[in-house]
Amino acid sequence: ASTLAAAAQQSGRYFGTAVAANKLGDSTYVGILNREFDMVTAENEMKMDATEPNQNQFSFSNGDRIVNHARNQGKRVRGHALAWHSQQPGWMQNMSGTALRNAMLNHVTQVATYYKGKIYAWDVVNEAYADGSSGGRRDSNLQRTGNDWIEAAFRAARAADPNAKLCYNDYNTDNWSHAKTQGVYRMVQDFKSRGVPIDCVGFQAHFNSGNPVPSNYHTTLQNFAALGVDVQITELDIEGSGSSQAQQYQGVVQACLAVARCTGITVWGIRDSDSWRSSGTPLLFDGSGNKKAAYTSVLNALNSA
Ligand code: G3I
Repeated sequence: ASTLAAAAQQSGRYFGTAVAANKLGDSTYVGILNREFDMVTAENEMKMDATEPNQNQFSFSNGDRIVNHARNQGKRVRGHALAWHSQQPGWMQNMSGTALRNAMLNHVTQVATYYKGKIYAWDVVNEAYADGSSGGRRDSNLQRTGNDWIEAAFRAARAADPNAKLCYNDYNTDNWSHAKTQGVYRMVQDFKSRGVPIDCVGFQAHFNSGNPVPSNYHTTLQNFAALGVDVQITELDIEGSGSSQAQQYQGVVQACLAVARCTGITVWGIRDSDSWRSSGTPLLFDGSGNKKAAYTSVLNALNSA
């Protein structure tokens, strides 16, 4: 196959990208989006600050631009993200206790209800685990409402949109030996054993020289999948260039393809110039929209599945 999406579809997987609403008027950007990808994630437009700028006043116009573009083009949508310690609207940032818990649950319910039927999978909770060696939860205003806030969010999302897959999404969970990976693993194991509704785990996969693609990536994905969840690479980008970058991209794709329940891969932007990283060249297309060596290695890896 000659596009990323078509190549991924050969093994029943998807290949997606993050999309920014304010770039939907850029014809080069949209041309690549429409041609190469079959899954879309809003880069910022469906987050808490974007969708509920004032308490109980919801704003879906930019999210809708992305969802409508995707659906009109026959693409599916990953929802990102219902509950997160970051990118909270100002009114939420200083809330605590029962008021915050109820505001968070109301947000999950309202946003998941609004998009009901249009979302393949929601990142219900994003980045709730701490960096470092504790393996424990990140301190946040949401965590301080009680350790059960994550499962409460998942139950609210399930009630609002029973057909969407519900994912936990985090970064630096790629290396099986990291404490953070183990912490998330134990949470998913606990949720599955107690019947908390969780269907998938998202691995953001933001890699750079200090945080390279781990050689045990396949082990990580396989071990999570063995808990009875789908796994997805949700925000892939890899700093670097040339054949070194291309090889690392190939390794990530091969790790996913080796795991039956790794259902798809999303890159976090289209061209290098679209990346959230202010400098660097971490994506599959250069600033002019030309395919990079990394693109070719990803396409070839998908085609040899
Ligand atoms: O739109 C405003 C603009 O009006 C304003 O002038 C400008 C001034 O700073 O800010 C613009 O908003 C920025 C927004 O991106 C859109 O470009 C925000 O400041 C900036 O914080 C925001 O960054 C986003 C970041 O999440 C925020 O946490 C990145 O685009 C986005 O790629 C990034 O994505 C996250 C995932 O959601 C979760 N995983 C990590 C990933 C990378 O950080």
